[in-house]
Amino acid sequence: MRRLNELHDAAFVSGASKGLGRAFARMLLAEGVRVWGTSRDPGRLAELASAHPGAFFPVALDLADRAGAIRAFEGASAAAGKGFDLVINNAGYGVFGGFADLESSVWRSQIEDMVGTVLELSHAAFRSMLSRRRGCLVHISSIAAELPLPYMSGYNVAKAGLSALSESLMFETRGTGIRVIDFRPGDYKTEFNEAMPTDSSSEIALRARAALEATFAGSPPSERAAMDLRRALLAKRSGIVRSGSLFQARIAPLLSRILPDSVMRWGTARYFGL
Ligand SMILES: NC(=O)c1ccc[n+]([C@@H]2O[C@H](COP(=O)([O-])OP(=O)(O)OC[C@H]3O[C@@H](n4cnc5c(N)ncnc54)[C@H](OP(=O)(O)O)[C@@H]3O)[C@@H](O)[C@H]2O)c1
Repeated sequence: MRRLNELHDAAFVSGASKGLGRAFARMLLAEGVRVWGTSRDPGRLAELASAHPGAFFPVALDLADRAGAIRAFEGASAAAGKGFDLVINNAGYGVFGGFADLESSVWRSQIEDMVGTVLELSHAAFRSMLSRRRGCLVHISSIAAELPLPYMSGYNVAKAGLSALSESLMFETRGTGIRVIDFRPGDYKTEFNEAMPTDSSSEIALRARAALEATFAGSPPSERAAMDLRRALLAKRSGIVRSGSLFQARIAPLLSRILPDSVMRWGTARYFGL
């Protein structure tokens, strides 16, 4: 199998306006797969649409509007003909701040958007794939699902929840012809951090944020994540895919399996200046 269009005809990619989602959409289009990509403002998708007429279709979707997001997915699915045989739930955002410094509603909204709404989108996609006994569901989680980031409690909960959903579905898809990929990127150079204000003025939180920015500055480009995802899709297997720098994607997860929790937490805290 050399090209993804031998496996997939129509893909849904949430958050395709920039960053990882745009790189995934471009990779799929280059592989001959039709793509329905989302943004809260479809105007941000105009460039992709004009570069790929008849192959890229902009969709308005806001994770904060759950009913609207499901309607948008169902509408796009109908427009795709037989529905989507590849769904990449990628859209997401960070919130940085002390747990007690921010209102609980901020954390709750993040979890509702990035777990609650994504669960509904995956539920709709999963039902449609089951009826045809084919397809691949991809959750763009994060290394934070297994190695939580300081001062990003809602994000850590959301990504751990999403990864738990992926792993649950891996059991249920055995023998169905459907695959589930839990894709866990480490840091990639996108606009993720710019879209995440530092909602904390405490000195310790600011130190943690500076350490986060320093790692982010040296991170690889999104196209590399897209190549890792392409390889995972061509492998035609369910599973967890860690993608990123050698340290974040390989060494840190390995250390977390062999070192005691307390040692991992000590090392992480030191790194972030806590
Ligand atoms: N970059 C990293 O280092 C990294 C590492 C691990 C995991 N991730 C995950 O990868 C995914 C993509 O992140 P990225 O780095 O590419 O960030 P990004 O450059 O900020 O892009 C985020 C994408 O998600 C969409 N989005 C954000 N909030 C949304 C909302 N409330 N409703 C609907 N769409 C929303 C944005 O679309 P609009 O703004 O146009 O609506 C945009 O297309 C996220 O789930 C993130 O958690 C990223």
